[in-house]
Amino acid sequence: MDRLLRQERERQVGLLQIERTFSFLKPESVMRGLIGEIVTRFEKKGLLLVAAKLIQMSEEQAQRLYAIHKGKPFFQELVTHVTSGPVFLMVLEGPNAVTVVRNLVGATNPVVASPGTVRGDYALNITPNAIHAADSIENATRELSIFFTPDEIVKYSKPTETKYLLK
Ligand code: CMP
Repeated sequence: MDRLLRQERERQVGLLQIERTFSFLKPESVMRGLIGEIVTRFEKKGLLLVAAKLIQMSEEQAQRLYAIHKGKPFFQELVTHVTSGPVFLMVLEGPNAVTVVRNLVGATNPVVASPGTVRGDYALNITPNAIHAADSIENATRELSIFFTPDEIVKYSKPTETKYLLK
């Protein structure tokens, strides 16, 4: 098993599996002024923001990020969309972070995404669907490494979360 992946699997607090996941706000969310609103949802849940940056994604980065979708009918439209304006990248940490973030984000198609989720509340269309979130630890590790170096990921903990949420 890949060393980074093994390190991820070994990060434990008690019985809770502490994971890191990767997510980014697509250009329409940045342009609509939704960064604070969406990041607040993750913070209030108790997830730890351990890295973040606002960038203009390059064509090469977008192609690598979405390599698993290459050949699908929506691939080029997706790459064109995520490179069309600024995106806000995040690395989030917490118990079962991959699943927790996916649940907060909601279904890929905003038409069926539940109200209360990011896509359920802020999107109507499947390509500009507000936000991307990695669907597995493996993909999270691969995706975040496209945009962040290991030294850009900050190691810290919040006393309140540790005391009240990580029991
Ligand atoms: P995202 O979470 O960024 O991962 C892949 C993206 O492809 C997805 O969100 C959608 O924005 C986009 N997409 C466009 N059409 C489809 C489709 N038919 N099925 C899945 N994803 C799609």
